[in-house]
Amino acid sequence: MDLEPRPRRLRRTKIIREMCAETHLNVQGMIQPYFVCEGNSVRESINGLPGINRESVDKFMESVAQDVKSGINKIMLFGVTDRKDALAATAYDNENPVIIAVNEAKQKYGDDLFVAADVCLCAYTESGHCGVSVNGDADNIDNDRSVEILSQMGLRLASVGCDCLGPSDMMDHRVAAIRRRLESSGYTNTIIMAYTAKYASSYYGPFREAAKSAPDKGDRKGYQMDFRNRTEALRELDLDESEGADIVMVKPALAYLDIISDLRQNSTVPVAAYNVSGEYASVKLQAEAGLIEEKQMVIENLTAINRAGADIILTYHLRDILKNGWQNG
Ligand code: PBG
Ligand code: ZN
Repeated sequence: MDLEPRPRRLRRTKIIREMCAETHLNVQGMIQPYFVCEGNSVRESINGLPGINRESVDKFMESVAQDVKSGINKIMLFGVTDRKDALAATAYDNENPVIIAVNEAKQKYGDDLFVAADVCLCAYTESGHCGVSVNGDADNIDNDRSVEILSQMGLRLASVGCDCLGPSDMMDHRVAAIRRRLESSGYTNTIIMAYTAKYASSYYGPFREAAKSAPDKGDRKGYQMDFRNRTEALRELDLDESEGADIVMVKPALAYLDIISDLRQNSTVPVAAYNVSGEYASVKLQAEAGLIEEKQMVIENLTAINRAGADIILTYHLRDILKNGWQNG
């Protein structure tokens, strides 16, 4: 035909656009993160993460009750403590605030609330690294010793009813070690959502302040992935799948949409993406400065993550979305 095509016909009205939309925001796939700390009646705001707090278990339970009312039924917990040592003992002791919080939340809500927890050592080591150091050397993290501690932490979490473990440490073989320990202890239903392609990223800044988990020396480039690498993510994918991961994750999300797309195309398990603290903070700061409309940018960002191939999204925006009904257009 010698006529010019007119793609704008399908953009003319809202109804036509809705009919032709290729992607729909999947709010049911979203998980709300929380920071749980020690103490009583603690609720501290977090620099860079407006609307997200550090809470002791009692306050955490109040927040969960509110969130459940607004429709949240999937949460992910991160621990915050000042009790740190060389071997991250707090990660799996009985006073670990996350272990207490998971227990209380599961006792109260049972299967009406899906509770996931971070499995990593950086909030519990005095070095702030995700594994334990050899002779206190920040550049020398002992993989296999760290994996042993991580699997103990995973087992403790499973034993208080945690539905899903999220190993975020990027040590080698940790998914296998956690899976083995779960199976041999009878926790056959515990889901492992592996941080499969977790990149060494500047976008974690606000989180490290929230979790008091910044490394005091060195950086995380010896274990987290290099952002120049794409094929390597497929290698991590193969390993995590063969080690028993139920869900694989890409992190951060927005600068890594190619990686999300690769994992979606090359995996048969659900793909999650972590819309991380720095991504959230940049939206909040632009909104506060009056530069953007927050709702529009949140929906755009999250839809893009879905479009790239993520089935599940961890996002600090979820509370705002549900409170304001942003998912309804
Ligand atoms: C801990 C962990 C981090 C995040 C999740 N788990 C920080 C890090 O690796 O330094 C970042 C999440 C965020 O920025 O929202 N391993
Ligand atoms: Zn860590």
